[in-house]
Amino acid sequence: LNYNVNRERRHILQVLFNGLRRLEYRGYDSAGISIDDGDFSSFPRSSSDGSLSPPPLVFRQEGNIESLVKSVYQEVVATELNLEKSFTTHAGIAHTRWATHGEPAPRNSHPQTSGSGNDFLVVHNGVITNYEVLKETLVRHGFTFESETDTEVIPKLAKFVFDKANEEGDQTVTFSQVVLEVMRHLEGAYALIFKSRHYPNELIACKRGSPLLLGVKENDDVCNGSAFHDAKFLLQNSNPKELFLSSDANAIVEHTKKVLVIEDGEVVHLKEGTVSILKFNNDKGRNGGSRSARPASVQRALSTLEMEVEQINKGTYKHYMQKEIHEQPESLTTTLRGRLLRGGSWKAKTVLLGGLKDHLKTIRRSRRIVFIGCGTSYNAALAARPIMEELSGVPVTMEIASDLLDRQGLIYREDTVVFVSQSGETADTLLALEYALENGALCVGITNTVGSVIARNTHCGVHINAGCEIGVASTKAYTSQIAVMAMLALAIGADTISKQERREAIIDGLFDLPNKIREVLKLDQEMKDLAKLLIAEQSLLVFGRGYNYATALEGALKVKEVALMHSEGILAGEMKHGPLALVDENLPIVVIATRDACFRLVWFLRNYVILLLSTAWHRHLLISNSKQQSVIQQLRARKGRLIVMCSKGDAASVCPGGGCRVIEVPQVEDCLQPVVNIVPFQLLAYHLTVLRGYNVDQPRNLAKSVTTQ
Ligand code: G6P
Repeated sequence: LNYNVNRERRHILQVLFNGLRRLEYRGYDSAGISIDDGDFSSFPRSSSDGSLSPPPLVFRQEGNIESLVKSVYQEVVATELNLEKSFTTHAGIAHTRWATHGEPAPRNSHPQTSGSGNDFLVVHNGVITNYEVLKETLVRHGFTFESETDTEVIPKLAKFVFDKANEEGDQTVTFSQVVLEVMRHLEGAYALIFKSRHYPNELIACKRGSPLLLGVKENDDVCNGSAFHDAKFLLQNSNPKELFLSSDANAIVEHTKKVLVIEDGEVVHLKEGTVSILKFNNDKGRNGGSRSARPASVQRALSTLEMEVEQINKGTYKHYMQKEIHEQPESLTTTLRGRLLRGGSWKAKTVLLGGLKDHLKTIRRSRRIVFIGCGTSYNAALAARPIMEELSGVPVTMEIASDLLDRQGLIYREDTVVFVSQSGETADTLLALEYALENGALCVGITNTVGSVIARNTHCGVHINAGCEIGVASTKAYTSQIAVMAMLALAIGADTISKQERREAIIDGLFDLPNKIREVLKLDQEMKDLAKLLIAEQSLLVFGRGYNYATALEGALKVKEVALMHSEGILAGEMKHGPLALVDENLPIVVIATRDACFRLVWFLRNYVILLLSTAWHRHLLISNSKQQSVIQQLRARKGRLIVMCSKGDAASVCPGGGCRVIEVPQVEDCLQPVVNIVPFQLLAYHLTVLRGYNVDQPRNLAKSVTTQ
């Protein structure tokens, strides 16, 4: 944050604290902040005349943002720091952390420092993979380390570079030159902001791999005006009032919507309210450019954030997760908007995915379609797999990103690889993307974050447009991801005439999906009652099959991650191969037994027609359905404590004679049923968490965006 107007320290602290609150969902086990401790207009740069600016103030605290706020104000009182003091210029940095290297503790929080005196301070998002080698070298040069973080090498390296330049007589070394030299030694992924006692009115930011945005608020506050159209104007003519750097638009949007997406290898220099950007002109990727590389000046267009501040507020809801569950009719409407074409008397109903239209032919000719994701995004892809196989006629394989990398699994240049990620910046998924690109596959991105690394580095893709998701447990992104992948399947299979009727039925189902979600959300109270029954349980099993195997995994994941209750999603067909041993009269078990195509046909045959099932397909359906029924029967025979999810009107048939608790959900087209069926699980997980007294939006040990491997 960089100001060129008079600002009180109190205001600056508040802006930084608010920014951290907006980012807290990304990490919340410790936090830190650094602001200046004096009016630097009276302190010239240290090396020119020997006088040294006062060291920047640094506050670091274990726990959430409010613990940091409290500790800063306690310090303010204790040290009689003047919060009302105005500055000619001011630059502050702040960070909220999710521990990867080193436990949550003040010494491991950011800003990390070059040592006493705070000559250089750094906040970092990402991971430095060669930090051990750098640390050894710096220790040999007399540096002592106080943290277990990978980040600490960065400010120490900056001090080393700065001191060396001064020792060699270069008293004019600029902040950018110091940082460019540091970048040449760093390997891994990072977005960094540097602050220095030697450059009091300046901030430097740079990145490789991890996201970074520059927000520009103009003097006349024309956030939505047209004065800023390109970086050229920005760099040469602008007099911005405030400049913001953040890994996430959430921390910027309440100040300005005008942003510049910083690219890999770029170094952004904020000095006294002005901006300049340099870039390695022979960038050699993640491991840095060569020493001889001369950075070139960059001029690029600003873009406008397509989000509103209201989207990142809780509104009338108590928690973000609750809000995001209940806004699914709207988020799905936005996901589908403009993409479903109704057709006419001569025209077929169809879908239009603009980001894919030039690549559909290649996808249809693929040897395989490979879905890659982590966590909930993986589950969404799993839910879409059957319809993708059915409509595209191309075999679909599933990969958890980290597992693909561990195995160095096979990816061919004839493959289409679909990367599914809400954030578009999950480290494992990004590395899998690099791997697939290296292997020559066509890479498709499905993300919720415009401008994210996955959105930019894939060949083509679809944004799910679910709106900003803040709750760590993904809800609305999951349902929108499935809807997008169903549309993807429709688009890929669009030229198969024999499946036209099926496709049109799915398109009708998509049109009606927001209404069905409205209907299923009415189960809120019922799920709260169920949560009250389950509040003291240790464990919950969820059985699903077919389209709803993914629902079982995702439902169990929701309960596990927020309600902190052990929960396992199990493929119903595998029940007798192990899980059955767990069944007794105490363990609660949810069985998903909603109708699908198989169920409907068998239902019809059983009730109205006596036919000889001659084709293999029909035999398969009967077996499939009887398997489903037999799961319930076998569980009941073992006195299992059953909760059965079924289609509306099927309660009596799924649980003849009663004895189970039944959740009835609206029926939709089979491949869209997972979108409806997950909602009761989301509600159950939410209520269980609140009743058990845990933090819904910030579950223990979890972060929204996992930017480290
Ligand atoms: C983390 C989050 C999950 C999310 C997963 C993948 O584990 O806690 O909610 O599903 O990352 O994230 P992505 O942004 O790639 O979908």
